Amino acid sequence: MKMWSGRFNKDTDKGADEFNSSISFDSRLYRHDIEGSIAHSRMLGKIGILTEEETLAITRALQEIMDSIENGTLYIQPDAEDIHMFIEKVLTDKIGETGKKLHTARSRNDQIALDIRMYLRDECDEILNMIRSLAFVIIDTARRNLGTIMPGFTHMQPAQPVTLAHHLMAYFEMFKRDMLRIKDCLGRMNSMPLGACALAGTGFPIDREYTAGLLGFGSVTENSIDSVSDRDFIIELCSAFSILMMHLSRFCEELIIWNTQQFSFVEQDDAFSTGSSIMPQKKNPDIAELVRGKTGRVYGNLFAILTVMKSLPLAYNKDMQEDKPAVFDSIDTVKMCLPVFRDMFASLSFNKDAMLESAGKGFTNATDLADYLVLKGLSFRTAHEITGKAVSYCIGAGKSLCELSIDEFKLFSVYFENDIHGFISLESCVDRRRTQGGPSGSSVESHIVKALDFLKSH
Ligand code: ARG
Repeated sequence: MKMWSGRFNKDTDKGADEFNSSISFDSRLYRHDIEGSIAHSRMLGKIGILTEEETLAITRALQEIMDSIENGTLYIQPDAEDIHMFIEKVLTDKIGETGKKLHTARSRNDQIALDIRMYLRDECDEILNMIRSLAFVIIDTARRNLGTIMPGFTHMQPAQPVTLAHHLMAYFEMFKRDMLRIKDCLGRMNSMPLGACALAGTGFPIDREYTAGLLGFGSVTENSIDSVSDRDFIIELCSAFSILMMHLSRFCEELIIWNTQQFSFVEQDDAFSTGSSIMPQKKNPDIAELVRGKTGRVYGNLFAILTVMKSLPLAYNKDMQEDKPAVFDSIDTVKMCLPVFRDMFASLSFNKDAMLESAGKGFTNATDLADYLVLKGLSFRTAHEITGKAVSYCIGAGKSLCELSIDEFKLFSVYFENDIHGFISLESCVDRRRTQGGPSGSSVESHIVKALDFLKSH
């Protein structure tokens, strides 16, 4: 029998029941639901709605329910309506009428708004740790590659020489912002909705601050209607996860390209590669491809919730139950991708020779050649023009700029002197760029120091 069946004259249709049920996905909220209920009953005890014995009976039974779910002796019934109803039912089966007092001054509307916040808080902590752990691997790899020269690209064309460390630390910055974004979301989520009840609060003299304190919330929500109808915190978190996945996906894309025979910048470890059922020679970057692919579903989940919420009148509507499969899937996906990506990345071997050779090929030091002339007093535009001509000559002669003799250089400008070869070597191009955020070993080293500091305090 349903707990709300009083005003109904017949049973719910079986199909409608199944359609309505959320237990298949919200069962994962059992721990937070029980913790919320324990805090709620303690508050009811504090204000005298429950006697001391009743409070004790309820909290003790709830704790037992938690333990038995956790140790596998209590099975969450798949035919329950939702996790809230299931736990309340087990509670009343256990302690009778007293259990039925738990739902005083509460509705499932504020209950779910509470549970999901508590759940997301825990999941975000885990995800933050996973990002942190990936960030450490990135920093570690960067530290070992401060002098590993590679071409930096724009338009996927060789642009200017950078180092592998510099390139990797760009990803550190992205993941740092991802961490900050998630923490920002957590800050806004840190307000307790319980006490809003169905939508209009309650006439009982509840102590919301007390419950919030028990559950570790920084404040209580300010408007009962908003408390039960707000899902912004889920949407912005799904958005933060989408951005995080976008960063992972770009990283994957680069590794896939670097892993091609044509680039050969990296060699994947066999443990993270897959073969082909027909082509015996194949060694495919499936892990990176799958992370890139799974980014799509995380974007999809964001759009699903945005669309569910669009046009919903205040306050609670059952449509909002659809937020859960979407946000749960985003969380599961992010939690699946981060560690496997980290391990795959950690096992890569970088082909320093191929990177250096490639950096030497695409005239990546042409800007430095122009800068040389600027240092001799020419305007940058004129220097640019002269350098362009030198590049064009090199293309015809099948040479790199470094391979031009001083006499050949003099064909383009009298300002070229014997120091030009040293000036445009890839090492000096990188080393000269010592400004904050630049690729020189010293710049990247100080970035790494700051990055480690950030991870220590976040
Ligand atoms: N399973 C519901 C959800 O996820 C819980 C809230 C139900 N509230 C209600 N008025 N039926 O949204």
